[in-house]
Amino acid sequence: MSKVEIKLGEIAEGRNVKVKWRGKPLFVRHRTDEDIEREAAVDLSTLRDPQTDADRAQNPKFLIVIGVCTHLGCIPIADAGDYEGGYYCPCHGSHYDGSGRIRKGPAPLNLEVPPYEYIDDTTVVVG
Ligand code: FES
Repeated sequence: MSKVEIKLGEIAEGRNVKVKWRGKPLFVRHRTDEDIEREAAVDLSTLRDPQTDADRAQNPKFLIVIGVCTHLGCIPIADAGDYEGGYYCPCHGSHYDGSGRIRKGPAPLNLEVPPYEYIDDTTVVVG
C-alpha cells in the first residue's frame, strides 16, 4: 500500500506510536506543549543537519518521521537516548531529538520526514 491514513486523534498526548508504511516504520508523536517549546528553542547552529522544528512538523502538535536510522538503517527506539522525547538508535549509538534531528552519534542526517497531508484537523495521509 503506498498511502496510509493516520487518525491522530487516537494518539494520546505525549505518546509515540509506530505505523507501518511501505514496509518501513513511521513514528508518529503527539507532542505536549513542553515538547513543542523545547524543539522550537533549539539553536540551529548546534545541529549537524540544521532544520527548524517548523520545517519538520506541519502542525507542531504531531511529529511524523520515518523510523529508520540515517546511519545504516536500524530502527531507533522512541523515548530513549539523551534527548527528551527523542529517539535512540542502539546499533551504533545515534541520538535524535524530539524533532527527529540528529544530535549525537554517527548518523549523518535527521530522521526523514515522509510526504504527508492533513485531510482534516486530526487525520493525515502519508504517501
Ligand atoms: Fe543507527 Fe548505526 S544504524 S547508529
